Amino acid sequence: MKPIRKAIFPVAGLGTRFLPATKAMPKEMLPVVDRPLIQHVVDEARQAGIEHFIFVTGRNKGVIEDHFDRQFELEATLKDRKKKADLTLLQQDLPGPGSTSFTRQQEPLGLGHAVWCARELVGDEPFALLLPDVLVQHETGCLAQMIAAASEVGGRSNVIAVEEVPHERVDQYGVVGIGAKRGKMFTITEMVEKPPRDQAPSNLTITGRYILQPEIFNILAEGKRGAGNEIQLTDAMVELAKKQPFYGLKFEGKSFDCGSKVGFLAANVAYALQRPDIAPAFREELKKLLG
Ligand code: UTP
Repeated sequence: MKPIRKAIFPVAGLGTRFLPATKAMPKEMLPVVDRPLIQHVVDEARQAGIEHFIFVTGRNKGVIEDHFDRQFELEATLKDRKKKADLTLLQQDLPGPGSTSFTRQQEPLGLGHAVWCARELVGDEPFALLLPDVLVQHETGCLAQMIAAASEVGGRSNVIAVEEVPHERVDQYGVVGIGAKRGKMFTITEMVEKPPRDQAPSNLTITGRYILQPEIFNILAEGKRGAGNEIQLTDAMVELAKKQPFYGLKFEGKSFDCGSKVGFLAANVAYALQRPDIAPAFREELKKLLG
């Protein structure tokens, strides 16, 4: 497979599950401990060797662009106050000059449509797609694990991160059917969005990280509406799977669905407990709260 140099971050959704917090602020800027969700996911992509970061934004999302830019006044103040550690942190988090692109999805017509909006910026090469409301906690990020596994399969293959969920929840997710093992991955034989429990091909669900071939854009260009009258990425992947192989990687690490309130709160607790600077005091507070 050609190297994966570019990643798409779709951030144009309305974030209705977090209203009123997301009325004026993008969901992707909600912090998990002290880093916005989108920063966590960009960090994961950088760790995986991604060189170009493509954000598909919408109205009210300008602050995401500002977040990935320099803030001269703040930097000058930190310098004056000799806050070297804070200054270094800000500079470390910044993708290099010219390595970000922002395009707009003018209407939130669905994830498939958001991905299609990035077609000119991606061009004719395979790319990574990371949903910023999914965080995976592991030393080696989920995307790095996928890129390593993808290097074992050739040509125009597609790779999706999958994980097991309890059978009674399969109707809330995109579910895959799996076939033969291929290295650390499985061949995907079927993909179905939110199947009734008794029709789900397995309890392995699609988890917000993808490596896709550029041919997906031709399928998305047809603009076919699916569930919820949205242009669904899963529908386009089902079409592409008729022509190209799809593999599923059961990644290592714990995932958090930060698009839901409980998942977001759990992520905050889990990430705080991993932080040597706050974990001891935070653990004490948690003990008190839990009685
Ligand atoms: P979600 O459906 O989880 O996000 O999409 P949402 O629509 O913002 O949230 P709720 O359901 O109303 O609370 C997953 C990701 O895809 C992006 C979202 O921004 C989110 O990061 N997305 C979704 C788009 O960019 N465009 C869309 O049309 C839909």
